Amino acid sequence: MTPVGDVIAEPDFDDRVDLDPDARDLFRRSGHCVVRGLATAAEIATVKPSIDAGTEARRWDRRPLEERDTYGRAFVQAGGIVGHDERTRRFVLGRRFARVAAELLDVDGVRLYHDQALYKEPGGGFTPWHQDQVYWPLDTDRTVTMWMPLVDIPREIGGMVFADGTHRLGNLSEEVIGDASQRFFDDLVRERDWTLSSHGPFAVGDATFHTGWTLHSAPANNTDTMRAVMTVIYFADGARITPSDHPARELDRLLWLGGAPAGSVADSEHNPLVWHRSFDE
Ligand code: SIN
Ligand code: NI
Repeated sequence: MTPVGDVIAEPDFDDRVDLDPDARDLFRRSGHCVVRGLATAAEIATVKPSIDAGTEARRWDRRPLEERDTYGRAFVQAGGIVGHDERTRRFVLGRRFARVAAELLDVDGVRLYHDQALYKEPGGGFTPWHQDQVYWPLDTDRTVTMWMPLVDIPREIGGMVFADGTHRLGNLSEEVIGDASQRFFDDLVRERDWTLSSHGPFAVGDATFHTGWTLHSAPANNTDTMRAVMTVIYFADGARITPSDHPARELDRLLWLGGAPAGSVADSEHNPLVWHRSFDE
């Protein structure tokens, strides 16, 4: 990392950072953790304009906030912005982040599933309870999302709320994100009495990591500033594509796995090996 003034010439996100053993232990025990200062404010100041522009160019829903449903009100969402420009590409394919992901998952290498900007607008709604992996046709639970604020996030907005230990329980419901998943998991959270944890407030460049099956939600944005967050999803190298038994997973197979058939190793050109142990040798 190279913190020089407010903005630095061209950050690369390929260097090595040492992961705090407490973060690794929390991740393995609870299914989530926070890594403070994984990128510097100077690095993010350099890359944020590119991610902002990529998000605006590729956002899926352009309707005004008031016209969207619960899911749509949760955030402006744009996936696959890795191709927007060179700076965005360097961020998404940064080995620094992927190495942390691999260490947390305890695997030799990780591939990119996809990136996704999640910008919760001023007045934006809550993110309903869900498990990310319900969307992912992958035969491994070694999957993880890095969620990195591109702005400071005060406690009033906060980050995700995680249900500790749910990463060990696999698929709890086929409900995708929305009112139905919120109702289903609200009841389940009460019934099972899971401990709920969050890591806010955040400084720009902090990051949380959570596994694909870790149940989570996020509060609404009742402030007048945009909660700009960039995410990158990784999976263990060697994972295979599962049969298309859910419309959301079939869509993801086409969108993010190059349309490769069920049963094949997920290694399309859209899923580069972002970090492997051998890269450090
Ligand atoms: C959010 O940023 O509000 C939710 C992120 C997630 O669901 O992974
Ligand atoms: Ni999620």
